Amino acid sequence: RGMRIIVSNTYEEMSKKAATLVASQVNLKPNSILGLATGGTPVGMYRELVKMYQEDEVDFSGVKTFNLDEYYPIDKTNDQSYYYYMKDNLFNHVNIDEENINIPNGKAEDIETECYEYDKNIYNSGGIDLQVLGIGTNGHIGFNEPDVTFESGTHKVTLDDETIKANSRFFDSIEEVPKEAISMGMKTIMQSKKIVLLANGEAKAKIIEKMLFGEISPNVPASILQLHPHVIVILDKEAAKYI
Ligand code: GLP
Repeated sequence: RGMRIIVSNTYEEMSKKAATLVASQVNLKPNSILGLATGGTPVGMYRELVKMYQEDEVDFSGVKTFNLDEYYPIDKTNDQSYYYYMKDNLFNHVNIDEENINIPNGKAEDIETECYEYDKNIYNSGGIDLQVLGIGTNGHIGFNEPDVTFESGTHKVTLDDETIKANSRFFDSIEEVPKEAISMGMKTIMQSKKIVLLANGEAKAKIIEKMLFGEISPNVPASILQLHPHVIVILDKEAAKYI
């Protein structure tokens, strides 16, 4: 099978391993297409990548990025937008050109066109070389919630109550969490050449077990990764508790 599992002792170690993997990808292929994720999990990985950039260990000048998802509706300037997150955690601190950054437009008026063009743009760039993923406690990847259709490309999704609750920690109140998002679809994600999925903390332990060893089912969107030929799962000890 195509999944390799790496268990780290700590969050820092998990983050360093993930950053090293991304940097190696970019060093081997300077014009790599990277798929990027947001959420609490990859913050440490981005911190490491910024450090590596400052120490001349990685160069982003040829890199193109596509983010997994963005809330809808949301303005770029909103500090809860994933655009803001990416600027704040990575793009403002490394040598990547604005024109090489792609994040779904949380203010798109014609969503269907936005999604269609997003996938077309990925395809025309040569496809994603390395896609970074986190995982929701309900098994979502990107914002592909349970009962997902495996054949979908980038599309508008309605967020689960569980997701809204989980993400409310980043907002002043739960009412402020957008109810919808634009997310790469399962098809878009599965078309990436390589995938690295990160998870830390005990809250993710159960879903990691299901993702790795459970039935492949739309109820656990991440379980489809069992069918991908090249996935590296990097966990900390707590998230690896049941494996
Ligand atoms: C978020 C994102 C996902 C992310 C997941 C886990 O809402 N849309 O891309 O992987 O939920 O988030 P966290 O890393 O904060 O646990």
